[in-house]
Formats: sequence, C-alpha cells, structure tokens
Amino acid sequence: MSDGRKTIVVGVTGGIAAYKTCELVRALVRDGYRVKVVMTEAATRFVSPLTFRTLSAEPVTVSMWADEPDAKIHHISLAEEADLMVIAPCTANVIAKIAHGRADDMLTTTALATEAPLVIAPAMNVHMWRKDVTQRNVAVLRSRGAVVIDPTHGELACGDVGEGRLASVESIVEAVAAEAVRVRDLMGKHVLVTAGGTHEPIDPVRYIGNHSSGKTGFAVAEEAARRGARVFLVTGPSHLPDPFGCEVVRVQTALQMRAAVLARADAADVIVMSAAVADFRPATASSDKIKKTDAPAQITLERNPDILSELGARNGGAVLVGFAAETSEVEENAKAKLEAKCCDLIVANDVSDPVLGFGTDENRVLLVTRDAVERLDVLPKAAIAREILDRAVRLLEER
Ligand SMILES: Cc1cc2nc3c(=O)[nH]c(=O)nc-3n(C[C@H](O)[C@H](O)[C@H](O)COP(=O)(O)O)c2cc1C
Repeated sequence: MSDGRKTIVVGVTGGIAAYKTCELVRALVRDGYRVKVVMTEAATRFVSPLTFRTLSAEPVTVSMWADEPDAKIHHISLAEEADLMVIAPCTANVIAKIAHGRADDMLTTTALATEAPLVIAPAMNVHMWRKDVTQRNVAVLRSRGAVVIDPTHGELACGDVGEGRLASVESIVEAVAAEAVRVRDLMGKHVLVTAGGTHEPIDPVRYIGNHSSGKTGFAVAEEAARRGARVFLVTGPSHLPDPFGCEVVRVQTALQMRAAVLARADAADVIVMSAAVADFRPATASSDKIKKTDAPAQITLERNPDILSELGARNGGAVLVGFAAETSEVEENAKAKLEAKCCDLIVANDVSDPVLGFGTDENRVLLVTRDAVERLDVLPKAAIAREILDRAVRLLEER
C-alpha cells in the first residue's frame, strides 16, 4: 500500500519507559508517517497493544504465530515495508539479542530481517547500562550502522540516579526524521576512499609515520556506504574498526597503498584520497632490528610516489577529491593543489590548530572546487563526510 507516506516500524520492548512510546507514536503519526507497532511480550505488560493500535490506526503485532488474513509471512512483509525501524524503549535484553543476531520473537525477527535503517533508544537501570557487556553490545550495533540515541542522566524509575532514562521523544523523532530522509544518492556507484597515515619502515620495529588517525576517511567510507555506494576503503594503520558495509584493505606503506588504490581506481565513480601518505620513505629498510650501538648518523630518504597526482593525470573519469593539510595560506595552497593534481575538490584544513585536525573528532575545513571556496564551521567528522559527499554527488551529476 503506497500513499506517499513513509512507513516507520516502531518496536516497543519491556521497559518502564514504554508509556513514553505512546507519545512517540502520536508525534510520528502527526508528522505524516505510517506507523506500525511491534511489541515484545514483555512490553505488553507495560502498555496494552490496544493503546498503540488506537494511536497508530494500524494493527499491532506481538506474536509471530498469529493468523494473517493475506497469508503473508508477516515479519518479512513488515521488514520489507519498513522505511525505518525504531526501537524505543530498547531493553538491555533486546540490545543483546539484536547484537548477536537472535530472532526469537516478532520484534527481533523483524529487526534482523529488515534492510531499513535502525534507530535504537535504550532505556534501563544505570548499572545495566554501564555494564561492559551492554556497552559492547551497543558498540556492535553502532558498528553495523544502527543509530543509537544514548539514554540521558536523571532520576530513574527504580530510584537510582544516573544514565538510563529514555532520550526525549523530540530527540527520537529528530533522529527518525534525519534517518528517514537519508538519501541513497550513491546507489550503484563505486566509491574508493583512502584513510590514515602510512608507516615507512626503518627496520622491523621502527618507522617514519604521522599523526593521522583515519577518522575522516573512515567517516567518508561509512557515509558513502549508507548512501548506497559499494565502498572500498584502503587504510594505513588505524585502530578504528572496519566501517559498516565497506570492503576494507589494510596496508602499511605508501607503495602498498598505491598498489591497492590503482587496482581499484578504474572502477571508481568517486575517489576520496584522505590518507596522509608519507612523502618520503627510508631508501633502505634493515631486515634486522638496528642495534643502539649501530644507529646510523643519517637516514637517507627516497620520495614516495604521489598517488593523487597519478590519479589526476590518468583522468579516469572519477570525481577526484584530494586533501590538503596546511599550516599557512590554506586557501591559496588548496587552489594550487586543485590545479596541480587535476582534482575536482580539495578538502583543506589548517593543521596548525592543536585542538582540531589530526586525531580529533571535529575539524574545520575549506572545500575548494574550480567554481567556489566554501568555509565550513567546526563540525564533527561525520558531518564533514556528508558535506564532502554532497559535493561529490553534485560534481558527478554535472559530468
Ligand atoms: C517493572 C519493570 C521495569 C523494567 N524496566 C526495564 C527497563 O527499563 N529496561 C530494561 O532493559 N529492562 C527492564 N525490565 C526488565 C525487562 O522487562 C526484562 O529483561 C524482559 O525480559 C525484557 O523483555 P524484552 O526485552 O523481550 O522486552 C523491567 C522489568 C520490570 C518488571
């Protein structure tokens, strides 16, 4: 049934905050969504299905075994119908089940079966929330692309004070709205992203490297995957886990990065070169650890290949995005780099600011194309990733 409305499947689990989901359902209906509620058995102890059926004007599902008039397998049809699934409140139990792929009731089976974005709003006692096992399960869900709206701090139903209160209905509605309109404008496209720094070996235990954490490139890769792209991420050493939905190649050196990038560049529609590739490498790397007493007075360096220039010169038809880490004359240097390396977009930032840039979660960047220079505010790296891909999609459309 399509009347232009997006379908939000609201999962309700057995927490005391389930009564607040009544307000959530009302707000979503008011905002023009079709809302279909699915409840766990435990949730029905807190709020009656009749309440949700009345608020949503749609049938409410609790059991997988109920007779369906149209003979459809309901958890699959519900999963397919969903433009988004939000679980609020989400118990520690359901977080654990979904994190481990369990599907033993209607709600968890639908959550496993759906391809739609998943928004989770946990609510529980503070000690349950803080337990390592819960935090690990939440991290698993986040790493798979779920949006987790952290519970807030305050007085809990059990009398304890701490984190565990369900986030406000307004913030859940906001997250749903943001996810529901998330564009899939890179569907069918190949996006190649590089991230992190490289390690150029001096001997088996020492290397020349830099401070790049890989956070920006990982954020770009994750965002591109969310927008429907097939994503290859080539990264230097980084502690970050593989982003959800990306094919990841982990390399150490600039030469390895070059080989991995060139192997995939021809298939790419968009190439985002955010890696901080070392410009130089030791001319020779000792195969044995160099003893303190044998330390050379000098290390002879050799130039590494300039991968971005090589890609620009090949002009393979992909939108090419380069990065410029500058300590002065950021705009001038970015414009020069755009021309010299035949890029379509340069993302430039001033790395002399100790609070921003390498290793931090936020950054302030300048986006330089042939036609425009845009100075963005200080933004989280995930937001910068969105801005970069918005420009890349526009450039792709102009081809
Ligand atoms: C009064 C009461 C309140 C509860 N509140 C919560 C809660 O806020 N969060 C939570 O994770 N579990 C809470 N529980 C425990 C869950 O109901 C229990 O783990 C149940 O098995 C969850 O089932 P479900 O995850 O299938 O909905 C509560 C239990 C009771 C009796």
